[in-house]
Amino acid sequence: MLHLLPLSTLLLLRAVLATPSPPPAARPLPLLIWHGLGDNYAADGLHTVGDLAIDVNPGTFVYYIRLDESPDSDKTATFFGNLTEQIASVCADLAAHPILSSAPGVNALGFSQGGQFLRGFIERCNVPPVKNLVTFGSQHNGISKYQICGASDWLCKTYIGLLKANTWGAWVQSHLVPAQYFRATNDTTGEPTDDYLEYSNFLADVNNEREEKNATYKENLASLDKFVMYVFEEDTTVIPKESGWFAQVNASSGEVTALRNRTIYKEDWIGLRQLDEKGALEFKTTAGGHMRLSDEVLTEVFEGYFSPAKGSWEGPKKESQEQLEL
Ligand SMILES: *[C@@H]1O[C@H](CO)[C@@H](O)[C@H](O)[C@H]1NC(C)=O
Ligand SMILES: *[C@@H]1O[C@H](CO)[C@@H](O)[C@H](O)[C@H]1NC(C)=O
Ligand SMILES: *[C@@H]1O[C@H](CO)[C@@H](O)[C@H](O)[C@H]1NC(C)=O
Ligand SMILES: *[C@@H]1O[C@H](CO)[C@@H](O)[C@H](O)[C@H]1NC(C)=O
Ligand SMILES: *[C@@H]1O[C@H](CO)[C@@H](O)[C@H](O)[C@H]1NC(C)=O
Repeated sequence: MLHLLPLSTLLLLRAVLATPSPPPAARPLPLLIWHGLGDNYAADGLHTVGDLAIDVNPGTFVYYIRLDESPDSDKTATFFGNLTEQIASVCADLAAHPILSSAPGVNALGFSQGGQFLRGFIERCNVPPVKNLVTFGSQHNGISKYQICGASDWLCKTYIGLLKANTWGAWVQSHLVPAQYFRATNDTTGEPTDDYLEYSNFLADVNNEREEKNATYKENLASLDKFVMYVFEEDTTVIPKESGWFAQVNASSGEVTALRNRTIYKEDWIGLRQLDEKGALEFKTTAGGHMRLSDEVLTEVFEGYFSPAKGSWEGPKKESQEQLEL
């Protein structure tokens, strides 16, 4: 067709085509979102959060972490599975993702158990490297009670029955997710129990509570620019709720030992002290019960920690750009 156009038009066309496109505006770093127990990566509520992130910071590429492309199977994986394998699977997915793997870094938002799982990803893999991690109502110091069922949910109660019957058994530790972040302590001494230290398939490991510490875990976590931990003021689902700040609670007296007074911090087993000393560790509260997120608090997070000022890049190469929701 082109040869039918007058020469002047052709020249104009050539001039337009040859004009270099303006440099891409600084784009915010991609955002990883890891959902909680009973949720799935395709859920509307979760995408509302991702959409808000894009409204606040246009150009953000949001990736919803999943264990399976099928939303139903992804939901099942929040209850059933071996967390060592689950985190390894997420590590492989993110490292192979065409957009994420080309970014110089990413931000991460973890809801409830998704918060400590993101921490597991950072400590064990961290490709692409996480810059700013924000967790809401997570169980960083584990749970001391299983409190996740509605009053009439018999299937859930059967599940809890399994958890309670044999928390430290190999089958439970390799198949039931919450058992892998259950943490039992002796109230008299305040120390974790021997069973926990020996058999916990996830938490005792990522918190470097065993004799042998993994230096990579500490190095990776300490490399964050910010680690922000929100606790819901009236959380009655996470017991104890202060777990969201790595605090320890004496179940008999209710006495709370703050992170800064704990050995994990003083001996800096996972880099939390290093983060604190560079002003990168934040303890926050938000009103309401477990996972009562408001747009206000989310907007505050997106503006405060995930804006292009906190880390940006030029965006993915052309061929993957159509995957960006702009
Ligand atoms: C420490 O963690 C890294 C990252 O997961 C792993 O490659 C390494 O084998 C671990 N080291 C030990 C001593 O377990
Ligand atoms: C969980 O999976 C890992 C990797 O396959 C395996 O080494 C470990 O023994 C499993 N955990 C349990 C408690 O079986
Ligand atoms: C807790 O520790 C104390 C002191 O070492 C010990 O006497 C007690 O038996 C422990 N309690 C449990 C339930 O293990
Ligand atoms: C926990 O509380 C009980 C009851 O008040 C108390 O006897 C015990 O010494 C406390 N444990 C620690 C480690 O402070
Ligand atoms: C740490 O413990 C000391 C002494 O028990 C107490 O005065 C201080 O308030 C505690 N610090 C935190 C951050 O809880």
